[in-house]
Amino acid sequence: MKKSRYPGVFTDRKHFYTLSEDKEDVYGEKVIKNKKGYFHQWVPFRSKLCAAMHMKLKSFPFKNSNVLYLGASTGTTVSHVSDMAKWVWAVEISPISMNKLVKLAERRKNIIPILEDARNTDAISLWVSRPEVIYQDISQRDQVDIFLKNMERFSPSIGFLMLKTRTIDMRSQPKEVMIKSKKKIEEYYDIKEVINISRFQKDHYAFVVIG
Ligand SMILES: C[S@@+](CC[C@H](N)C(=O)[O-])C[C@H]1O[C@@H](n2cnc3c(N)ncnc32)[C@H](O)[C@@H]1O
Repeated sequence: MKKSRYPGVFTDRKHFYTLSEDKEDVYGEKVIKNKKGYFHQWVPFRSKLCAAMHMKLKSFPFKNSNVLYLGASTGTTVSHVSDMAKWVWAVEISPISMNKLVKLAERRKNIIPILEDARNTDAISLWVSRPEVIYQDISQRDQVDIFLKNMERFSPSIGFLMLKTRTIDMRSQPKEVMIKSKKKIEEYYDIKEVINISRFQKDHYAFVVIG
């Protein structure tokens, strides 16, 4: 296992891995033990962040950062982020997903699960202080507005938006939806990267936005 070009991420040349003290798999991923700890394979078909890495993502500010993660679900990507970050505030609206996320947070001491609608930034701000990174993966029609609202409220230095084009507009082409979303974000922020991750995650784009 070697260090990859992404800080805090390892590679066997084919797959990416994060290093954890947690021996349990989170989503059925392969876990390899050696004297350093447990290397959890990071699967690009399950995690949009990993998909973006396989598509040559350049920005990678997660190591030792405080991350506000919106749309945590059961913790697939959160688990890998927690292996690298200082703190992860993990916001999820579904109580059913939250059950599993809480179990993960009991094993990983740097995850703070928050059962909340990501639109409700007032409520989230009661738990979160000064995130350096916002990462959002929420399949809602107003996902771009949710992202902009959180970027404005928490002023991170960088934001990641995993755009699911189909939930914004079923009838338009994914590329058209991406262009419209890009224009909307550019009214307020500079965009550093736009990556088509459809090879792993159908009709999705990853945006990296400067805060
Ligand atoms: C595609 S899944 C996230 C997968 C996860 N990011 C991962 O990679 O492991 C989207 C999640 O967003 C959650 N969600 C939807 N609307 C939300 C909202 N308004 N606020 C917070 N979470 C929301 C859903 O319940 C779902 O768990």
